[in-house]
Amino acid sequence: MSPRTRTAPPQITIDHAFEDAAMRTLPEDALDGLTQPFKELPPKHFYDARGAALFEQICELPEYYPTRTERAILERAADEIVASTGAGELVELGSGSATKTRVLLDAMARAGTLERYVAIDVTESAVRESGLQLIEEYPGLSVHGLIGDFERHLDRLPAPRARRLVVFLGGTIGNFRPGARRRFLRAICALLERDDRLLLGTDLVKDRATLIAAYDDQAGITARFNRNMLRVLNRELGGDFAPDEFDHVALFDDRNEWIEMRLRARSRQTVTLPVIGLQVDFAAGEELRTEISAKFTRARLEADLAAAGLALDGWYTDPRDWFALSLARRVV
Ligand code: SAH
Ligand code: AVI
Repeated sequence: MSPRTRTAPPQITIDHAFEDAAMRTLPEDALDGLTQPFKELPPKHFYDARGAALFEQICELPEYYPTRTERAILERAADEIVASTGAGELVELGSGSATKTRVLLDAMARAGTLERYVAIDVTESAVRESGLQLIEEYPGLSVHGLIGDFERHLDRLPAPRARRLVVFLGGTIGNFRPGARRRFLRAICALLERDDRLLLGTDLVKDRATLIAAYDDQAGITARFNRNMLRVLNRELGGDFAPDEFDHVALFDDRNEWIEMRLRARSRQTVTLPVIGLQVDFAAGEELRTEISAKFTRARLEADLAAAGLALDGWYTDPRDWFALSLARRVV
């Protein structure tokens, strides 16, 4: 239970790395991704306020095991992780609603080290609402929210005030392609001082049926989340996509050990995006890739960490080995 009696005035800072938060890199990404032979858009464009709310619903689905599995691991390991790091500042990348984060904040409060929570996310509503809730829940906690792109704006994070625990939860690292993943881990490494630590959540390789069900749920929420990207394109780029004319596709790529989400055109269609002066043709059955979600083994993760100048300090998993939390330190 988090303490609720206020002992110091709450402090919250919300900073914007975007001049226009809504625009992000959408025009460039749409121009690049929709004019290539295999059409593709980056998954960060799922997360407007509606996409963030749909993701919250996904986290509650019976088929979507990552959130509850990661939470259970955190509940078991948080005190040990916090004690071994001595961190006073929690820096969260892609924080979303910061629900599981509270397990770590509670452990830091129990250890008496908790000073500041710093969060970066592309979704303004998520950063603002979770920040306001956290200052209410944790007396004396300072919150610094940065609305920005973690691939471009890590240099906009505030200077550290205390030993840092940088956390990247949910398996979001799996949404990067391998090269970008290593670049990103290198950028995280550059954030860490000698005594700071990274806590990284990764979904693990498991049987195909469990994986596919997690991305193609019976209630159709993941399908709505997937189609939300077309609604974002319509709103931001004046587009005329008919989202219901695209089927949700989730497949497992054995060679790469990743899930792919795609949107498949039900019929031949032409879409216009006036803001970027683009007309795009889809053949019947043509697919647009919207996300990869890589599944890891410990060996692959250790290799990625090593390539980024990081070494594993702790490995926490669940009894089925479905999800892992890695604690890592900087070695270069
Ligand atoms: N950490 C939370 C949320 C995971 S969902 C959890 O574990 O449940 C992924 C989060 O990353 C979303 O909140 C999304 O808005 C954010 N995100 C995705 N791409 C991003 C990017 N390029 N920069 C910043 N945030 C991003
Ligand atoms: C945020 N990310 C780790 C989720 C995942 O599982 O790759 C996004 C998601 N896509 C479909 N369902 C959930």
